[in-house]
Amino acid sequence: MGKSTYLLFILNILFFRNIQAQIYRPSATAEQRANELLATMTLDEKIGQLTLYTTDWGSTGPTIREGYKNDIRSGACGNLFNSHTVGFVRELQKVAVEETRLKIPLLFGFDVIHGYKTIFPIPLGEAASWDMEAIGRSARISAAEAAAAGLNWTFAPMVDISRDPRWGRVMEGAGEDPWLGSRIAEARVRGFQGKKIGDTDAVLACVKHFAGYGAPIGGRDYNTVDMSERYFRDFYMPPYEAAVKAGAATVMTSFNDYDGVPATGNKYLLTDLLRKEWGFRGFIVTDYTSMNEMVNHGVVADDKEAGELSLNAGVDMDMQGAIYQRFLKKSVEEGKVKMADIDEAVRRILRLKFDLGLFEDPYKFCDENREKSVLLSPENRAAARDISRKSIVLLKNDKNLLPLDRNRKIALIGPLADNKGELIGNWNGAGNANDCVSVLEGVRAQAKGEVLFERGCSFFEAKKEWLEAALAVAKQSDVVVAVVGEQAMMSGEAAARADITLPAVQEEILIELVKTGKPVVVVLMNGRPLAIPNIAENAGAILETWWLGTEAGNAIADVLFGGYNPSGKLPMSFPRSVGQVPVFYNEKNTGRPFDPNSKWTSKYIDMPNAPLYPFGYGLSYTTFSYSDPKPDKIVFKKGENLQITVSVTNTGSRPGEEVVQLYVRDLVASVTRPVRELKGFQKIALNPGETKAVKFTLTERDLSFYRRDMTFGAEPGEFEIMTGGNSADVKKAKVLMTE
Ligand code: NOJ
Repeated sequence: MGKSTYLLFILNILFFRNIQAQIYRPSATAEQRANELLATMTLDEKIGQLTLYTTDWGSTGPTIREGYKNDIRSGACGNLFNSHTVGFVRELQKVAVEETRLKIPLLFGFDVIHGYKTIFPIPLGEAASWDMEAIGRSARISAAEAAAAGLNWTFAPMVDISRDPRWGRVMEGAGEDPWLGSRIAEARVRGFQGKKIGDTDAVLACVKHFAGYGAPIGGRDYNTVDMSERYFRDFYMPPYEAAVKAGAATVMTSFNDYDGVPATGNKYLLTDLLRKEWGFRGFIVTDYTSMNEMVNHGVVADDKEAGELSLNAGVDMDMQGAIYQRFLKKSVEEGKVKMADIDEAVRRILRLKFDLGLFEDPYKFCDENREKSVLLSPENRAAARDISRKSIVLLKNDKNLLPLDRNRKIALIGPLADNKGELIGNWNGAGNANDCVSVLEGVRAQAKGEVLFERGCSFFEAKKEWLEAALAVAKQSDVVVAVVGEQAMMSGEAAARADITLPAVQEEILIELVKTGKPVVVVLMNGRPLAIPNIAENAGAILETWWLGTEAGNAIADVLFGGYNPSGKLPMSFPRSVGQVPVFYNEKNTGRPFDPNSKWTSKYIDMPNAPLYPFGYGLSYTTFSYSDPKPDKIVFKKGENLQITVSVTNTGSRPGEEVVQLYVRDLVASVTRPVRELKGFQKIALNPGETKAVKFTLTERDLSFYRRDMTFGAEPGEFEIMTGGNSADVKKAKVLMTE
């Protein structure tokens, strides 16, 4: 060993010991520990912490590109995604903590969107339950399973509001409403992150996609987003803010531009709004190569500039783009980015690694026994069945066709009737189709009469003999249950549709089945609102079941036979035709509101304005009646709370649950306000004949908005208070707010 090498060796030992002592200084705060570690890092090592790469899944199991493995070893890659299972995570973490100079553990991220191994309903489906406890539990279980499989970070929840069912990613969100979306965002963040960050049944949440990703022009994924700041703040911002305030540890940028600036390079969004206005303290990660895509957006000349724009805007971690890794050092040398900003980004990431407890035990999420016992446990499956049936929405039920008598002979027909592969929907984590209960299995398990099956057609293909066989089976039966819909991959990322009807062959066979004269129950599976006026007119009953996941078949059978009385309500309007899109309940009145007797009002000449099924709509096997809403005072002072009471009675013959909804309208304001806005809801259970008084509290904040001068607050004046079972069927009261 030469003299200088020897000296380096000694320095290294001293240096390294010192770091060890700092890292493991248990009494220090995460902030202090991060700072001390930061002080020992080279610029290359810092940039490594800002870098996130994917691993792959080959046909025989997980794989990692050799280059990435070397990057972990050298400290150039500090975080991974798509690496899961205890064995694989342990192998990679070992490289980071045994072979790198600083032994900084890796973060392991994955898209755990609606379950890891036990798959829950797609998020849009869960939103239809309006059941925050169940939604929180679903996220809790998903996190516990993910954290038992090596993961410590999920790329969820997606809280993008969308009014456009053409956009395939509506399946991942909570629908069209900012208020419902905010409550769900909070429930999911709390569910994923559990009691505290660092618990071995919890993972870091990542709110995405910041911001406005759900409003691409034409519903086309990745497309431009442009709207006034007022509109943006009123309708799109609230769930992001709610998620951040619920403690979300990380935020992901979005692919789109907003007001001409791509989100990944948008300082207004990432720094002014997210960090300064809302006080977000976690780290911001880009979406997959969204940094690089700013070259295509045309706001930077090359990757290097894209990195500079991003860092200066407030992006901490580069997902898969390799821009920080390739160029950030040079950008520092040229003075294009400040070392202090890099340090701040690294600090944010290290802080969370300390909070997670990874320095004390880098393998704390790698316990084989936990992995075996937690994944797909009977309790997890039971919870999935529970929320699955709560997510189903009864759209139509003529002559009380449902629930079915178990003794009747059933013809189960359709491409999705005996299918498992589609049930886990898009973004299905590590879910396996084989673990799913098909509708045929679920129905056969609960039916007492014969259940005949014919698929009738495939998703897109009709054959004469398939149809004939289906019609023959229908004629022999008492009732037809037709299970039809999209393929799972027709929604999700990069799955926009310009035509949102049911694939034509499926609609055709439904009509043929109706012609047999047998009652037809349509069970829909899809990842977005569909335009189905023809089916709505002809089917006897319709159940919207989304993609329910592992327990789909059992949950659907529970509802079909009445073991569970449906209680879901639509979180997004169902249009009559794609031509109405965007169609949503919280619209403005306009200067010429719809009047059936006047041509010169805001309407279509060939179709009603109203959607086929409005936001908040869903039937039950029983019926409910509503009193008028009763405010505790008609005149109240600004700043005072208002109590609203509404009596709801179960007027049918079965016990049932109802989502009681509260809407408000500011009648005269300094800017135009929506004709109704959801400001509260409660899900209640009522026995036949039972009445409950449901109480809501409206605060000043609930009546506030961005006023003419863009300050947020309430304006005294008249308000309409509305309560009811869906956004289009409400009873009203008026109140007056005084100064
Ligand atoms: C791209 C998607 O937009 C994002 O939602 C996801 O988390 C990342 N890919 C990682 O898979």
